[in-house]
Amino acid sequence: MKIAFGCDHGGFPAKKDVIEYLINSGHEVIDAGTFSDESCDYPDFAIKVCKSVLDGSADKGILICGTGIGMSIAANKVNGIRCAHVTDEFSAEMTRRHNDTNVIALGARITSVELIIKLIDIFLNTSFDGGRHENRVNKVMEIEKNN
Ligand code: RB5
Repeated sequence: MKIAFGCDHGGFPAKKDVIEYLINSGHEVIDAGTFSDESCDYPDFAIKVCKSVLDGSADKGILICGTGIGMSIAANKVNGIRCAHVTDEFSAEMTRRHNDTNVIALGARITSVELIIKLIDIFLNTSFDGGRHENRVNKVMEIEKNN
């Protein structure tokens, strides 16, 4: 899979291990930065990753900041993006199965890097259930279109 990755300084401590995991798992990584632990603004990276997902250069996006919250707020402002802020394994699975999310947001200050990798692994390896959930996701996208 092609994966767009972005983080700010809050997510930077997890970056090396996450990218290593992705490459070792056979994924291709588009690295949108950040490239150091210097203070920076999470929306700058959220938009780059979301654009890669929307233009098809990436299949899924991964965003990491301190809490995951800022990244998820920013990503969900982008038309066509459904981003889940995830801290547990059940949510990582269900957000793919029920919400067909295309971006995951994680917090390196609240979630260990080991769990972050586990959550990403579940996210990338779980398919959308479709069926009744498709109708609900379509309704979410209607909200986006009309507001
Ligand atoms: C940066 O200090 C921090 O605010 C950011 O990483 C993120 O947690 C925002 O939601």
